[in-house]
Amino acid sequence: MQQHTSINYSDKTKFYKELHSEAEGLAEKEWFVNLANFSALLKQHLPEINWVGFYLLHNNELLLSSFQGLPACTRIAIGKGVCGTAAKTLQTQLVADVDQFPGHIVCDAASKSEIVVPLIHNGKLLGVLDVDAPVLNRFDSEDQKGLQGLVQILISKTVWPDRFA
Ligand code: SME
Repeated sequence: MQQHTSINYSDKTKFYKELHSEAEGLAEKEWFVNLANFSALLKQHLPEINWVGFYLLHNNELLLSSFQGLPACTRIAIGKGVCGTAAKTLQTQLVADVDQFPGHIVCDAASKSEIVVPLIHNGKLLGVLDVDAPVLNRFDSEDQKGLQGLVQILISKTVWPDRFA
């Protein structure tokens, strides 16, 4: 099922409620289906972003998976860049200005601010969701809460493998 409607972003509480409900309806049990469609859903509805996608934990590094945007860095070491920091600390990284983040990895030169949410299932890191914006200070605590909620839907609706082969 495809939907081409847009969700109004001016009321963020309402926006994320509707986004979550679309995500619930879209979710399947297969992880690769959900990563593909969740990145597309975010690209469709989140204004002012230039890249959104997932990196998955594989052999103790982050490997590029489903995304929307320009081709990106394929491997990120745990602890490196914004994604590697989210993976190491298991904490969401909300970065108002990527130039001020020590070790930020430039994949798309247009990116000016970024948010990275770790994907954690049964206490274990699966990977991260990364969203980049071409403007400074793009994301606030409401976006953080909304995106963490979306990740929770992804985690709970999906049957995850023991490892990504
Ligand atoms: N900027 C990220 C790298 C991934 S790209 O933005 C798609 C980082 O510093 O981890």
